[in-house]
Amino acid sequence: MTKPKKEKILIVDDDRAVADLLSETLTQEGYSCKTAYSGAEALDIIKESPKPFSLVLTDLIMPMMDGVEFMEKIQDTNPMIGVLVISADKNLTQAVDAMRKGALDFITKPFQTELVIPRIQKAIERVKLEQENNEYQHFLEEKVENRTAALLEKHRSLHNLYFNTVEAIVRAIEAKDPYTVGHSKRVSKFCVRIAEVMNLSEADVQDVMIAGLLHDVGKIGISDAVLTKPSRLSIEEYEHIKEHPLISLKIIEPIQELKKAKDYVKYHHEKWDGTGYPEGIKGDAIPLGARILSVADAFDTMWIGRHYHSAWDMDTVTQEFLKNCWTQFDKQVVEAFSKLVESDQNALDQIRDENPPLFSVPKEFTQIHPAPHRT
Ligand SMILES: [Fe+2]
Repeated sequence: MTKPKKEKILIVDDDRAVADLLSETLTQEGYSCKTAYSGAEALDIIKESPKPFSLVLTDLIMPMMDGVEFMEKIQDTNPMIGVLVISADKNLTQAVDAMRKGALDFITKPFQTELVIPRIQKAIERVKLEQENNEYQHFLEEKVENRTAALLEKHRSLHNLYFNTVEAIVRAIEAKDPYTVGHSKRVSKFCVRIAEVMNLSEADVQDVMIAGLLHDVGKIGISDAVLTKPSRLSIEEYEHIKEHPLISLKIIEPIQELKKAKDYVKYHHEKWDGTGYPEGIKGDAIPLGARILSVADAFDTMWIGRHYHSAWDMDTVTQEFLKNCWTQFDKQVVEAFSKLVESDQNALDQIRDENPPLFSVPKEFTQIHPAPHRT
């Protein structure tokens, strides 16, 4: 007795004798067969069948819906069902058309059942192989999707950890020097606005934003007496305060994500003419991000004021920048800054109002000048 194969086959032929003969033969071979005598009936059977068919054998020449149209409808709704066509057309035009459209094989009428059976077995094997490939593909896609989701989650949490760490470092310096409260955040936002006016890439804007937040963390290594001294610094004190960019760099060095931002932090006190620190590099040798940071940092000091310096109005600030182009500042950054002031001073006001300083400048210091950007 033939071992049941269980695969389901639907036989579709308007010639009932042919359909029934095939069904009987294939059932004896162990397949589970159903017959339909039109394309429409066959589509209903496929739709209502709880277990999907592996293979459909369909005649090509049928009234109402021919075999090719029927096959296309199956491909639309049940692409995993294999189709084998039966053709009475001697010149095989329709059979070739059906093969071109995805039929697995064709059988010509009249046929000998013993020759048809191996063709059907072969077609079923192809369907099973395709199903296995498909399942494996799905399995792989699901695996890749899950791994991608896990990696994204990890990336998100590392990103959060990174920003929380940056914030913690900024808070540490603000706790040490109340005069810097809000300074780093404002400078960071000013940097972003200037970089945007200069049409920097999103990644570069992100770098200047981070550098703005971190540029002064090295002040944590400067003595409180020097840091908060309200009067002019001695030469020794000034030399001491000049150490802070390199201390900043040392603190943030292990954070791999920072990349370019580290250089911006390191060089934020360099001057265009080479008289800055820590290395005295000049002009284009100073990274653009550091030149932007230098303008944003000086702007905050002049416009907000410090314990050693009065707050200036915007006109005075702008004049000061123009006066120091090509000596302290990069002219193209100053121009971008001026453009920003002209086009959107409200944005600058808003940044200041959202990150207010924690001090008011004592009257007796309001005339102290110059060196508004000493730190
Ligand atoms: Fe600084």
